[in-house]
Amino acid sequence: MEKRYIQFSPPDISDAEIEEVAATLKSGWITTGPRTKLLERRLAAFIESGRVDIDCDREDAYKKYSNRVVCLNSATAAEELNFRLLGVREGDEVIVPAYTYTSTASAVVHCGAKVVFVDICKDGDTFSHMPQMDYAKLEAVITEKTKAIVAVDLGGIVCDYDKIYEIVNRKRDLFKPMDKHDNPYDDLSSRIQAAIGRVAVVADSAHSLGASRVVGGVRRYCGDIADFTSFSFHAVKNFTTAEGGASTWRDIEGINNEEIYHQYQLYSLHGQNVDAMAKSRIGSWEYDIVGPWYKCNMTDIMAAIGLRQLDRYPMLLKRRRDIIEKYDAMCDELGVMHMCHYTDGVESSGHLYLTRIPSVSDEVRREIIVGLADMGVNTNVHYKPLPMMTAYKSIGWDIKDFPQAYDYYANLITLPLHTKLTDDDVDYIITVFKEVVSRYLPERTAQ
Ligand SMILES: Cc1ncc(COP(=O)(O)O)c(C=O)c1O
Repeated sequence: MEKRYIQFSPPDISDAEIEEVAATLKSGWITTGPRTKLLERRLAAFIESGRVDIDCDREDAYKKYSNRVVCLNSATAAEELNFRLLGVREGDEVIVPAYTYTSTASAVVHCGAKVVFVDICKDGDTFSHMPQMDYAKLEAVITEKTKAIVAVDLGGIVCDYDKIYEIVNRKRDLFKPMDKHDNPYDDLSSRIQAAIGRVAVVADSAHSLGASRVVGGVRRYCGDIADFTSFSFHAVKNFTTAEGGASTWRDIEGINNEEIYHQYQLYSLHGQNVDAMAKSRIGSWEYDIVGPWYKCNMTDIMAAIGLRQLDRYPMLLKRRRDIIEKYDAMCDELGVMHMCHYTDGVESSGHLYLTRIPSVSDEVRREIIVGLADMGVNTNVHYKPLPMMTAYKSIGWDIKDFPQAYDYYANLITLPLHTKLTDDDVDYIITVFKEVVSRYLPERTAQ
């Protein structure tokens, strides 16, 4: 068998994206502008309907899908701005799974609030094996200080939001909306907290654009499930704008979406009340700074990539599903535990394929990763739990208190899963994985 070199997650960029970027560069408008606004409307339409073919320049669609999604320069910025909109600040607590990427927690720290980690269930969710929070533990750590919980739709699999909403509603009496008197910028956030009236459900859907789940008996796409959601369009994601991300939210009774959208614009553009497009009109030089805020907007060059990626996205999701089905068959044959992306009521975006090699230690897992790499197959580990990281250890967290997160991590290997893989590449990965992993499996499964 001839050796191949399999990259872990290269971007899938076609001529369509390249041509749209070139057209943007030639257009005279390269920062936040018409392409970013169109991408926002098209993402809103996709989140609502799962469709990428709605003409969002048509008058009715233009109105319907404006002020629903905000494109930004990363998911990390989107997460932080979601918390800012929610008024999360010093003295507050936000519950975060111990099993996630740092942004889920660091965005909380940026707002001055305390991160409260929760362990995952043993071997993850019963059906999908996604490393989902232990919901009994989650309920137990909700206090009067809790302002939000973050559910991470890891690898593209949507969490059990029915359960999460049930918990936050049950704990409604503990929730205390913020007092706005000490901060002139908090008016909207205090109205949002009062209107939601319970701990906010925030989704980290960095991996999960296009994923869906039946929630409350209705199929809903990520972005239309939690109170506030963030997406990542980083280069390794299913859908990319090189760097990039977006925020979205569900309707909040009594609060105008235009007001929420406007606040995101202020937060992401220095607190400047007139954006670059408006300022560029002849004679329109004057602006005010209404808050000392941040700079994390998306450019039209990034949005150009996104517009053409979105056209291709259904096809990209389908290709991921085809590869996942082959990996599932391989793992089932070997007796290797794996995430199940398509289960009753859940349709994943197929972002990551996590496998767990039975009965091996962290050391042996590392050896397997080297064995695969020697054969040209580049794998990864998602994730080393946050209580193992210096940043979180130094503020008092200890992995000993998160035994299920450690257990899940210790024998985990993430396989390459992307749309640049040919069928031959997939067959090669399967052959190599079987060969290398079989050396470490108990006799029964090795045969
Ligand atoms: C679960 C999760 N959340 C957030 C992020 C941050 O995304 P970004 O790089 O767009 O800020 C990532 C990035 O990989 C992630 O995996």
